[in-house]
Amino acid sequence: MIKIKRRWEIPECEVTPEPLYRRRREFMQAAGAIGGALLLNPWAGAEAALAIGDYQHKAISTDEELTEEADATSYNNFYEFGTGKEDPKRNSRRFRTDDWEIRVSGECEKPGTYDLEALIKPLPLEERIYRLRCVEAWSMVIPWLGVPLGSILKSFQPTSKAKYVALKTLHDPVRMPGQQRSVLHWPYREGLTIAEAMHPLAILSVGMYGKTLPNQNGAPVRLVVPWKYGFKSIKSIVGIEFSETLPQTSWNMAGPREYGFYSNVNPEVDHPRWSQKRERRIGEIFKRDTLMFNGYAEEVASLYAGLDLAKNF
Ligand code: MTE
Repeated sequence: MIKIKRRWEIPECEVTPEPLYRRRREFMQAAGAIGGALLLNPWAGAEAALAIGDYQHKAISTDEELTEEADATSYNNFYEFGTGKEDPKRNSRRFRTDDWEIRVSGECEKPGTYDLEALIKPLPLEERIYRLRCVEAWSMVIPWLGVPLGSILKSFQPTSKAKYVALKTLHDPVRMPGQQRSVLHWPYREGLTIAEAMHPLAILSVGMYGKTLPNQNGAPVRLVVPWKYGFKSIKSIVGIEFSETLPQTSWNMAGPREYGFYSNVNPEVDHPRWSQKRERRIGEIFKRDTLMFNGYAEEVASLYAGLDLAKNF
């Protein structure tokens, strides 16, 4: 059997332009010389995070033009802070995310309540430039800083019964005033199959554009699953549950005919109220064709082999 290397399995020295690779080495040496503080604490500053991540996963990063940071941080969906695109930035200004904890439960050997920093800090942050495509037919290209979701999930030692992973956002109508209105079933819930969750493209993000994640983009930690519609990328996560049965998701509960569990970006399956064939990249005038799995078919199509994607939308 011939083993074909996936794009993310290529060693960094093969995929990184040499000057960049050298610069990283120099950075590592410099950091070592000042006591390694930056490396031990990737959250110590935006620049440190970028320098660590810059070389990694070039192979799965797109080289498309980045969306302007100002657009990506001011045109948002985060219903906990209002349903208008400009509400999240305005209404989340005072949202505090210190001492953030994540409760891990269900089918795993290590359930418990974990401090976010303790979970993420031991892992090297990576920068990955991914497309995010929303059901309303707009898309962006964002440089995310994060860690593979699978690396975190494995540390909780899921049992063989863990078929799905359910994720929950904080439920606190005082801190998240949008939850005072029942526009969705709160807390915001999302889920993935365990195979999707373990896929190397799925990350837990703690930053973007080389900086800590702004509140409106899901501080302090959010999911990024680039081959699915944006609503799967749940923000401000406080709960991870391994389950044997299909988890409920907020958008599916709100409109089961419109929002399925899988929600893979699929130009062939229309949303009941609109076509999903084309999208507008923020910052561009003309629409472009939407790609199957948001352009990540080579990486993820095998996850859905044998599944009718019109039924499992
Ligand atoms: N997560 C929570 N908790 N609440 C939300 O309303 N909106 C989703 C997703 N994650 C949402 C959420 C939707 S519909 C989209 S398109 C993306 O976040 C938008 O992410 P962005 O604002 O960082 O671009």
